[in-house]
Amino acid sequence: MCGIIGFTGNIQAKNIIIDGLERLEYRGYDSAGLALLNNGRINVMKKTGKVADLRKLCENAELSGTCGIGHTRWATHGGVTDVNAHPHRCGQVVLIHNGIIENYKQIISEYGLADKLMSETDSEVVAALLDTLYDGDPIKAIKKTVNVLSGAFALCIMFQDIPGKIFSIRNVSPMVATSCEKGSIIASDLTALIEFSKDYFVVPEYHILTLSKEGIDIIDMKGNEVKPEILSVNWDIASAQKGGYPFFMLKEIYEQPDAIRNTVTPRVSQGLPDFTEDGIDDSIFTDCERICVVACGTAMHAGMVGKHLIESRLRVPVQVEIASEFRYKNPIMDSKTLTIVLSQSGETIDTLEALKLAKSMGSKVLSIVNVKGSTIARESDYVLYTHAGPEIAVASTKAYTVQIAAMYLIAARMGLVRKLIDEKSTKKFIINLINASNIIEETLKSANNIKRVANHIKLAPDAFYIGRGLDYTMSLEAALKLKEISYVHAEAYAAGELKHGTIALIAENVPVIAFATQEDVYGKVISNIREVKARGAYVVLVSMDEKVDDVAICDQHIRIPKLDSEFTTFATSVILQLIAYYTSEAKGLDVDKPRNLAKSVTVE
Ligand code: M6R
Repeated sequence: MCGIIGFTGNIQAKNIIIDGLERLEYRGYDSAGLALLNNGRINVMKKTGKVADLRKLCENAELSGTCGIGHTRWATHGGVTDVNAHPHRCGQVVLIHNGIIENYKQIISEYGLADKLMSETDSEVVAALLDTLYDGDPIKAIKKTVNVLSGAFALCIMFQDIPGKIFSIRNVSPMVATSCEKGSIIASDLTALIEFSKDYFVVPEYHILTLSKEGIDIIDMKGNEVKPEILSVNWDIASAQKGGYPFFMLKEIYEQPDAIRNTVTPRVSQGLPDFTEDGIDDSIFTDCERICVVACGTAMHAGMVGKHLIESRLRVPVQVEIASEFRYKNPIMDSKTLTIVLSQSGETIDTLEALKLAKSMGSKVLSIVNVKGSTIARESDYVLYTHAGPEIAVASTKAYTVQIAAMYLIAARMGLVRKLIDEKSTKKFIINLINASNIIEETLKSANNIKRVANHIKLAPDAFYIGRGLDYTMSLEAALKLKEISYVHAEAYAAGELKHGTIALIAENVPVIAFATQEDVYGKVISNIREVKARGAYVVLVSMDEKVDDVAICDQHIRIPKLDSEFTTFATSVILQLIAYYTSEAKGLDVDKPRNLAKSVTVE
């Protein structure tokens, strides 16, 4: 959480920093700020609100300098105020920070820093400590400082008396960097770098970077020079722009057919699933006795779809764990458990720590990650990259469907190598999976119909999603999405469970969206719909057929294409995403930046 950027080069830094912050804003948008170093002075501008507010603030200010840093904040320590916004200045030092300094209180008392502090943040304590330890040698001060810090941090630091240089160091919190003819740039993620170069490196932990217009020097904590591993991105700046859509979320919903194609087709060889290019050893599928899926939020919901599929097709037991709970429950893990970790960002701290725990208990880890070179990817034994391209909207959409597609690929490969499913059936399954892109394209045609549903939901304080089997897992994601971006309180229920309590909440006009796409339980869901309809609910039925009697009991019907039950998930995904999107839009909300949230959750 929090987006940070630093630039030093041959051209003015102000606009580079503000433009970069705009691209990083999805990481946090409580406040934004920048600092520019020029002629032995550092100018700091910062303000609560969005980056657009900072841009306005800077418009008329006399701000020049070719070296600067910027920050967009997701508040952890201290409220959303101007003074708590970054950068923080103390004496000679100005810095920005992403992460959490766990021992900041102890540092304040041990080093007597209280009088130096103006804000309530843990970050300012680092600036105060650095200033206390700084005697003209920045590297020495940084080393001493980070030896004292405990917690996660990505820091970019400028010293007032060192022209044209930005110093940086990190632990856990992500940072990537590159240099090009314009200068050197460092940021929390690639969206801010891509304009400058397609080549970049992941900043190694506990290494000190010195950025100057000539390039980037890296040394380890012992002072040895280090050469980073250069990676390259396979998407361009257009992928990180709205491209004519009003919001990134809508654009990303419409990008799903391509995202699935890009994720699935490179892993199909002669009609069969093939992970050779990913370097994934089949032994992880044959040697395990059970699977443990660990993830958070939407990624966890994708894992639940995988569980349903693997258990029903392969009869291999799969447990799905909320990463933040997994870590503290003393989980039962061993070398016969394959851990599958799902994460769009590859930086979610709860998921990362759960991964480390699983590994330490002897489990092999296969991660499904969207961001190349991210920490989770690097910590895993094997990685299956999803190729969704950058996902900017806080609400995850295309990353979810590609995670589901990746779980289908794993189920197919595992069934094949364990000789549970023959080649012919596997090929048929893969044809259906490749067809997921067409399913999504077809379902997107229902957008206008879905808008009508959203117009009803936007007026409601509460909404319910119900379904059975795979449709229940989709209901969980549907409720999360609706809450997250439209602030309508939503709950997901296994349709048969309503009558055990929750049906008491159903009254006149309460929206109930029923997913009835699973053939084996279709009739049962219809009975459950009748139960809520009898109590006045406003029912939206999502199903394949227009069975006249069933549709007649509903207030709205959203039709999905005719599909095998296992593959309706792709159609349902689009519907649940568009319901949330249009509800949020109809309420006039900032769809891409829902309140209190940030895209990648790097605090526990
Ligand atoms: O980057 P990750 O996939 O690890 O993120 C996990 C969750 O934080 C994320 O899916 C979150 O639930 C989304 N904002 C939901 O739309």
